[in-house]
Amino acid sequence: MDKHTTQPSLLDRLKAHASSNSIPMHMPGHKRNTALLGTDLPYNIDITEIDGFDNLHGGSGILNEYMEEIADFYGTKRSFYLVNGSTCGILAGVRAATKRGGKIAVARNCHKSVYHAIELFGLEAVYLMPEMDEAFAIHGVISTASIANTLKKHPDTQLVILTSPTYEGVVSDIAAIADICHAQGIPLLVDEAHGSHFNYSQHFPASATALGADIVIQSLHKTLPSLTMTSLAHLTSDLIRPEELARQLAIFESSSPSYVLMASIDRCFSLLRDEGDQLFEAYNQRLTDFSEKMEQLQHLKVLCHGKDRLDAHKTFFAFDKGKILISTQGTGLTGQKLSEMLRSEYHIEMEMAYGDHALAMTSVCDTDAAMDALADALLAIDGTLDSKSGGHTLYNGTLLFSLPEKQCEIWQALESEKIDCPIENAIGQTAAEYVWAYPPGIPLLVPGERISNGFIRQIHTLLEKGIKVYSDAEGLPKNIRIVHHKILAH
Ligand SMILES: Cc1ncc(COP(=O)(O)O)c(C=O)c1O
Repeated sequence: MDKHTTQPSLLDRLKAHASSNSIPMHMPGHKRNTALLGTDLPYNIDITEIDGFDNLHGGSGILNEYMEEIADFYGTKRSFYLVNGSTCGILAGVRAATKRGGKIAVARNCHKSVYHAIELFGLEAVYLMPEMDEAFAIHGVISTASIANTLKKHPDTQLVILTSPTYEGVVSDIAAIADICHAQGIPLLVDEAHGSHFNYSQHFPASATALGADIVIQSLHKTLPSLTMTSLAHLTSDLIRPEELARQLAIFESSSPSYVLMASIDRCFSLLRDEGDQLFEAYNQRLTDFSEKMEQLQHLKVLCHGKDRLDAHKTFFAFDKGKILISTQGTGLTGQKLSEMLRSEYHIEMEMAYGDHALAMTSVCDTDAAMDALADALLAIDGTLDSKSGGHTLYNGTLLFSLPEKQCEIWQALESEKIDCPIENAIGQTAAEYVWAYPPGIPLLVPGERISNGFIRQIHTLLEKGIKVYSDAEGLPKNIRIVHHKILAH
């Protein structure tokens, strides 16, 4: 029998404690007083590190046992509970693998937490541009060739970091990328925030934890049944010291981690360990049925579902079929309009909409009825469309498809003297703030990058299309924050 299966779940321990007669003369201040506060929120099991429980950071008791159970199941050297989302895992992972001021090779389509790590640790960023998928105008993989070329040019790189799967479900060839990195003794961190289900089923691509990535960060809350902010950090190699990763996690995570969140991680893991096979079989069947129905679409297209096949996307290594990305190209609808129709007419709330796309995220917890409702709604909407009515070309200005010119490091731009510049005068200046469209939240411009004519046109087009564009200084669309010396030199 598995050495761990005999221990009670963390939730059972919390419930047993809640029904004991222990009087809480300790944090949290709500004192589990449900007579006063009601039972809508889980006050009863919201405890702190008291006797019989454990300290997440540097603990040696029950939490370590739960985390070891995960490491054994996933085949990692160490796995860590995260209660501040993947964000804290990425910050800690980058810090553990690099020296202040060191060089990092970064996929330019990384989540903003990666840029924040680069900024905080004063790193020198070398960017890897993802391939472009022409058919859907989204990012494809980070190619092995771009990794090999970059590392040849920058052998002093201390860490390679990339996102796989992407928000849209595109998976890179992690095994080959890890081999290239390791041939030069460089660790690889994979942001697998959207792929935590990969460890539980053969119906999905393999997880980076099994493919040689040194650190893998997964948001359980995104694609598995677990509460918001719950994530895992996995360490699989000897290139990074586990105690250093643990130390960094203690820096970037709360010193009062929530037991409710940790019980949710344990619950999610034990549910999938014990019943994952059936749950994923049923999930896979729902996706297969959905995909078959999508073959009837005449106007809308669904990435790697229906008539659209993986082999039509030369820039994908693999694809997460749990992601349902609908293209409205040529239909006269935008992604936002499709989302609004799904919401108002069919009560379906999508994960995001940008450009000519709307994205649905699925999981083992979707019901047959929910998947049928989405399929039926898409077919019904498709039936009202006329491809001749909307002949515009596929638009996706929310993503970045060519690399802006880097003029200085992120931290240098942010620590320089800055001024707000009218956007029409900003061409050629150095950005001193992040600019991104949300969704999807990948920076279109990072501090230290040159503001080009193309960038300004892109911002105007996004705004014309009603897409929200954000900047740290909140001056857009009028002003953009730039490095001051540049305008003086102008
Ligand atoms: C690719 C990617 N990485 C990391 C994160 C951060 O994850 P979390 O929200 O769990 O902190 C996100 C969040 O959306 C993401 O999309």
